[in-house]
Amino acid sequence: MLKDKVAMIYGAGGAVGSAVARAFAIEGANLFLTGRSLAPVELVAKDVVSAGGSAEAAEVDALDEQAVDEHLRSVIGRAGRVDISFNAIGIPSTNVLYVPLTELDVEHFSLPITTLVTPYFVTARLAARHMVPNGSGVIMTVTTLHSRQGFPLAGGYGPAQAAKEALTRELSAELAPHGIRVVGLRPHAMPESRAIQDGFETRSKSSEMTWEQFQGQLASRTHTQRLMTLAETANMAAFMASDKASGMTGTTVNLSMGSLDDSGGWRHASRRLPSSPRPTHRPEHGGTPAPRSQQRWVALKVVTDDARSGTRLSIGRLTRAAPAGRVVPRRRPAAELWNVRPSRGSIGEGELPSRSSMSQAISQHRVAGGRGCQGEACP
Ligand SMILES: NC(=O)c1ccc[n+]([C@@H]2O[C@H](COP(=O)([O-])OP(=O)(O)OC[C@H]3O[C@@H](n4cnc5c(N)ncnc54)[C@H](OP(=O)(O)O)[C@@H]3O)[C@@H](O)[C@H]2O)c1
Repeated sequence: MLKDKVAMIYGAGGAVGSAVARAFAIEGANLFLTGRSLAPVELVAKDVVSAGGSAEAAEVDALDEQAVDEHLRSVIGRAGRVDISFNAIGIPSTNVLYVPLTELDVEHFSLPITTLVTPYFVTARLAARHMVPNGSGVIMTVTTLHSRQGFPLAGGYGPAQAAKEALTRELSAELAPHGIRVVGLRPHAMPESRAIQDGFETRSKSSEMTWEQFQGQLASRTHTQRLMTLAETANMAAFMASDKASGMTGTTVNLSMGSLDDSGGWRHASRRLPSSPRPTHRPEHGGTPAPRSQQRWVALKVVTDDARSGTRLSIGRLTRAAPAGRVVPRRRPAAELWNVRPSRGSIGEGELPSRSSMSQAISQHRVAGGRGCQGEACP
């Protein structure tokens, strides 16, 4: 799709930048990879070259306009033109996230705006100046769900992501008449990336959540019940950079896997359909009370009517001998028992010694695609 295209990638040593570099290389692009530190960018370039692709690495701070300009000119001097400019710059969450807005100082609030939006403007503007005379080119970036959804403790990160998407639209409005497309990608969290792992590290200091539970919680909001991979995002980037996406400009593609719908709404718990069965703790659903010693922990999918908690998994005790194929959970607080539809094989059922080990098992099921099961009870 990208045969002989000349592609610049800024922030190419990072998770997204390196994945995009590999996907572009597979599609035949000639890569010019840059980053603030040379070593990680060189590693990516070596990887690409050893896989038969074409890549060069350079140290360029994308906040330094002169450095970006000089590097771009040297690339164009050798390659003749630039076809694609991809900005994949990211910043560590330290001092940016997890501080309440009421306690955040102006400097830290402004940090993501300065360090994420300004390099996007700088790299896009300089690339556009070289693309306009050729009458073609694609300018790209990547944002997060924060651009469209309010999350607590996100500081200036959300405003920065929203600004990048606004800039994508504005650049397109001015550049599309010159044959230049400007597009963005808005993926969900990708757990392979350092940024998401760092986010978990910070969260885990104030909660007992495991890495699997953290991913499971994020994944529970997607239609697919799993998280995006870097390769999936990068493959979409390759398509969007290619002429096959010639009809696409001035937009940011929603790769949230359904967790952020196109109306901008956050996906809450799936609402119970009128025909869905009520919670099955009532006597008419059969079964006789089992002695406590014979009760088992079971995994239940609990859909709550609390809009903030969304779909989540919970644990219940099997307190009755259920008819075949049906699990009868012990009564939980009414708000949580809004719609309980456990099923063997779809979530998993097993006999585990404790509530916490079951909790871990459930998270693993969810991360594995939500269709796993646990223990001898699996079909
Ligand atoms: N990871 C995800 O799950 C995810 C999901 C949705 C969107 N995104 C977005 O994707 C972008 C990249 O995220 P990521 O996970 O790939 O982050 P990352 O792994 O931390 O990579 C970011 C890269 O940008 C480089 N960089 C930072 N400032 C730079 C500058 N001024 N000039 C040149 N390079 C600079 C960093 O270099 P140093 O390491 O030397 O600082 C690093 O190599 C971010 O905008 C992020 O919001 C990420």
